[in-house]
Amino acid sequence: MFRKKNTPGEIEFIDIENDPTLDKKTKKKSKAKKSMEPAKTEAKKPVKIVAEKPAKTESVEPINEDKQVLIEFKDVCKKYVQGDNEFYALKDASLTINEGEMVVILGPSGAGKSTLLNLLGGMDSASGGHIWFDGEDLTTFNDNKLTAYRAQNVGVVFQFYNLIPTLTAYENVALMKDIKDGTTDPKEALAAVGLAEHMHQFPSQMSGGEQQRTSIARALAKNPRLLLCDEPTGALDTDTGREVLRLLQLMSREKKRTVVMVTHNSLFADIADTVIRVKNGGIKSIVHNETPKDASEVQW
Ligand SMILES: Nc1ncnc2c1ncn2[C@@H]1O[C@H](COP(=O)(O)OP(=O)(O)OP(=O)(O)O)[C@@H](O)[C@H]1O
Ligand SMILES: [Mg+2]
Repeated sequence: MFRKKNTPGEIEFIDIENDPTLDKKTKKKSKAKKSMEPAKTEAKKPVKIVAEKPAKTESVEPINEDKQVLIEFKDVCKKYVQGDNEFYALKDASLTINEGEMVVILGPSGAGKSTLLNLLGGMDSASGGHIWFDGEDLTTFNDNKLTAYRAQNVGVVFQFYNLIPTLTAYENVALMKDIKDGTTDPKEALAAVGLAEHMHQFPSQMSGGEQQRTSIARALAKNPRLLLCDEPTGALDTDTGREVLRLLQLMSREKKRTVVMVTHNSLFADIADTVIRVKNGGIKSIVHNETPKDASEVQW
């Protein structure tokens, strides 16, 4: 169900049923909810391998006391039960992510990368363990609190875009204005991903790469504290992909937003402050990079 609200010079829509980051009740509440402070600018971390072990990991401490920890996972599991069989999409995952960090998650297909991202974004609930965001344990949140958490703090570029087919690119991005305060102008966000000329097209009238860029513009426009991207360059050519990486790096470096990007492309590890490798539902390693490359230097 959509609600359309016309005000001079702008169109706003709410997709109450389909957008995982939104519900009507929470929207009302979220206006009143205090927005969180932007992160502080901090020095780079030294190179340090924090964890290098298969599947089961121990709690990982932040390596710099002066960095502000935004996210902590402690022994997080996601278990699926089918008949008599139990399957762990994620098992005993522990990690720490600081505010303003650019994190790349690497791993083969089926490793648990999207599962990890969905748990980070409060789009899925853990079967065990604890997930803290800014000191609050998401695993204790009820549905309303979790919806408010997503609406206020999380922007997502989904692996399969999740655009609303009945809305144009502009309208898909403009949705964010109804979810939280402090969003970017949709036109600016679309222009930043090279879609100024295509903003009035519907998803069905756009190429896969254009749809992916619309999804990226939507997440950037929200200007969230935590930006989660699942294979954000999967459908893009090298130049467009590099531009998207540059925008994501800008979010982290200049706006001090925390960016977590899932990818199969190990070359992207070079631009990350932290690289998390996932395999068979376990965290294999967490490596901090002292001198991440500029996105413009990445070749693939
Ligand atoms: N709802 C579900 N029910 C059962 N198993 C699931 C469910 N969701 C995910 N899984 C399983 O959990 C494992 C991890 O899935 P996930 O989507 O996290 O993988 P991924 O690393 O993102 O893979 P890809 O790179 O292909 O996107 C897979 O084996 C998948 O089949
Ligand atoms: Mg995935």
